Amino acid sequence: MKRFLVLLVAISVLLVSTGAVFAQRVDVGIVLPTKDEPRWLQDVARFEEVISKTPYRVEVLFSQGSSAAEKTNVETLIARGAKVIIICAHDAAAAAAAVEMAKLEGVTVISYDRLITGTDAVDYYVTFDSISVGEAMGQYLVDNVTGKGHPLYLYAGALTDNNSFLFFQGAWNILQPKIADGTFVIKNSAQAEAVKDIKELSRDQLAAIIGEVTTDWDMNVAKSKAEAHLTAKTAADKGQVYILAPNDGTSRSIADVFAADPDVTKYFITGQDAEKASVQYIIDGKQSMTVFKDTRVLAADAMNMAIEILEGKTPQTDTTYFNQAIEVPSKQSPVLVVTKDNVKEALIDSGYYDAGEFTGI
Ligand code: GAL
Repeated sequence: MKRFLVLLVAISVLLVSTGAVFAQRVDVGIVLPTKDEPRWLQDVARFEEVISKTPYRVEVLFSQGSSAAEKTNVETLIARGAKVIIICAHDAAAAAAAVEMAKLEGVTVISYDRLITGTDAVDYYVTFDSISVGEAMGQYLVDNVTGKGHPLYLYAGALTDNNSFLFFQGAWNILQPKIADGTFVIKNSAQAEAVKDIKELSRDQLAAIIGEVTTDWDMNVAKSKAEAHLTAKTAADKGQVYILAPNDGTSRSIADVFAADPDVTKYFITGQDAEKASVQYIIDGKQSMTVFKDTRVLAADAMNMAIEILEGKTPQTDTTYFNQAIEVPSKQSPVLVVTKDNVKEALIDSGYYDAGEFTGI
């Protein structure tokens, strides 16, 4: 019995000390920011489709809105032998440490959708054209305005996300001349009001505005901010209003707040991601538009790039993005504006969603 116990202990010690050997090895690791936003569930579903067709071993991990968890995920993937890591950062600057660690281990790093900033440890960036996302939002608001003096409410994404800068910059490109000429009157951002005559904003100027009107990509933050803004305003600041909302989740919560205000007679509101709930809002006339970013394309682009790297080839890129340290070779995909008019064609007929997932389409 005693011998048996000694043997058992010896085997356990051996198993623990060689644990890494038993963990499943991976070729490509994918790290996504959170499961709690529908946008990233779209991406993971599309990754799963692509993964099922590759002979490579791929593992997807979620960081649940934590840079510490994100770093642990990267460590786990390195320990499992990943040669390529595709990572969508929770916090652009904080993620630099995680990818620098990966680079030291000889891993190729692909920034996915959100650019990791302030480091030379990013090899490639696979993204949608985020400036054009913001421009599409701005253009939608401009296309639906006539006359002067219309209230404009501005909202932005998280300050820790480089995309928030690109989206706002794009929107500002289109909105600024219409703010400067009095078509729109900004109602909720002293920072934007202070620079309304400046077309090209610096990163610091953008950061000041984003910091003031950020939603943190959080529907609850968006809701309380919108409520506070409307409470602080009078009926004269309402009526027919225009709202720059940075994505679908925040758009729905801001739209609900504006819809509930008796002094708001009509609102135009933007969004992006074509989340199912927002597609229903668009069908129902509660959200005006969304910018569709076809995650099938992005997931396939990133995986194809990873496979090329595994096979020793140099991936094709079509542009570069400055990440505040280096120009990162990038592959960029176009986006599509979706309104009530083309929602069926863009999202159902294209096979992205099933008609049965919506009512009234
Ligand atoms: C951005 C992303 C958007 C949106 C947002 C919130 O970086 O490009 O599509 O989902 O994050 O998660």
